[in-house]
Amino acid sequence: MKEKLSKIRVEALEQINAPDANLEEIKVKYLGKKGELTAVLRGMGALSAEERPIVGQLANEVRESIEAALNEKKSELQAKALQEQLKAEKLDVTMPGTPSPVGHIHPLTRAQRELEDIFIGMGFSIAEGPEVELDYYNFQALNIPENHPARDTQDTFYITDNILLRSQTSPVQVRVMEHQKPPIRIISPGRVYRSDALDATHSPLFHQLEGLVIDKGITMGDLKGTLEVFAKKMFGEETKIRFRPHHFPFTEPSAEVDVSCFVCGGKGCRLCKGEGWIEILGAGMVHPFVLSNCGIDPEEYSGFAFGLGIERITMARYGIDDIRLFYENDERFLEQF
Ligand code: PHE
Repeated sequence: MKEKLSKIRVEALEQINAPDANLEEIKVKYLGKKGELTAVLRGMGALSAEERPIVGQLANEVRESIEAALNEKKSELQAKALQEQLKAEKLDVTMPGTPSPVGHIHPLTRAQRELEDIFIGMGFSIAEGPEVELDYYNFQALNIPENHPARDTQDTFYITDNILLRSQTSPVQVRVMEHQKPPIRIISPGRVYRSDALDATHSPLFHQLEGLVIDKGITMGDLKGTLEVFAKKMFGEETKIRFRPHHFPFTEPSAEVDVSCFVCGGKGCRLCKGEGWIEILGAGMVHPFVLSNCGIDPEEYSGFAFGLGIERITMARYGIDDIRLFYENDERFLEQF
């Protein structure tokens, strides 16, 4: 029996140290319930009382040495596997990465931010209003009653008889004046809508930037001065501005404002269509009716307002001749800005 045990030990250790050893199998084969060592222990009943403890001790030693060899081999294999994994997953963090393409802001967003910066620099703050607007704010409070011909030029999309997509940013004037006491000095950029067919110069959705200043003693001189500073900042120090008489129901007097062409300097070229001037905005002194509609006393306060088209300014600036290019998201166009 002793010889049998020694043989088991030698065999088992040999198998454990073989290069392709299957440790689980070896464990079952020698130490399992039906294993060889167990079989030897079962036969111990046949031994004499003197032999039994000696063989028992030897059997324990054999079991312990097989278990120890199995454990040692197991950690050896695990360490080896870890080394291989570390080698395979080696990462050189100093290698340059794969660049992912980064987009950039849309030319209209860029123009809007530039406009905002210019006016914030002159002490204006930004006000916002809803794009889905009440008829009252878009028209009536701005001195455009039902059936007024000015509604024709600003035909828009109606949600109900009373609710529409705003056709201009001017309703924000009314919303601000209703809630804020003068002095008021705000700009309000945003989307506006008109039911125009899409062509090279018209879009049913476009962007405006509204300006409003209300205080005691504000005059047309303040309007001209403000717009002149703005025009020089936006189009260059050489830029001149020109006021042409016009009519808006919510300003009186009203004007359309041109800037001298920043390509030809006023001589006439393709951009200004030979005119020397480019129209950029509508403006005027806020109508006394509008002030009263908003609870501001026109005897005490006066002010000016202006509204410019962000597409128009961006198109002029970059010589873009088709408004549709802004909304088609063609990267060949957008990448140029
Ligand atoms: N809201 C006018 C338009 O869309 C522009 C404007 C704004 C004119 C403010 C005067 C004062 O045509």
